[in-house]
Amino acid sequence: MINKKTLSITGIIVVLLMVTLGTVMAQGDLTPEEQLGKSIFFDENLSINGNQSCASCHDPAWGWTGPDSDTNAGGAVYEGSIAGRFGDRKPPSAAYATLSPIFHMDKKGLFIGGNFWDGRATGEVLGNPAADQALGPFLNSV
Ligand code: HEC
Repeated sequence: MINKKTLSITGIIVVLLMVTLGTVMAQGDLTPEEQLGKSIFFDENLSINGNQSCASCHDPAWGWTGPDSDTNAGGAVYEGSIAGRFGDRKPPSAAYATLSPIFHMDKKGLFIGGNFWDGRATGEVLGNPAADQALGPFLNSV
């Protein structure tokens, strides 16, 4: 269950991550806030077994998706922090998350926006799909 305290802590983390994801990762050009976001993105200590960071599944050297070409070719899933436990989807590139609009239907009846493959991080909780998306990874049981 997500309470208000969890939401506000996550909201702070979200802002930091959005700054990181929306910024070219050039060394030396980062503000302190951007550097903090970058540090969080690459910090394996934030996973339950201290062995996995966001970059483990969203590696900048691999277009911000997982760093295994065999796995990527099969559209397959990545292992989480706990050995033998896998998610149920392939990591999409995290590069475009902050550009996605609030999930909605356009005039032609097409669904547009949101984050995650199915758009379920709609942006209606925190006002931005990338912010809603960021409620997921830190609290994900896998
Ligand atoms: C174990 C692998 C794994 C790790 C670690 C991981 N992710 Fe993901 N990420 C995924 C998967 C899988 C999805 C797609 C889930 C879905 O669509 O249901 C995803 C989706 C996303 C998206 C949505 C992209 C889009 O355009 O819809 C963003 C942004 C993202 N992750 C950022 C992060 C951040 C930030 C962290 C670290 C706090 C993180 N991820 C950690 C696997 C991972």
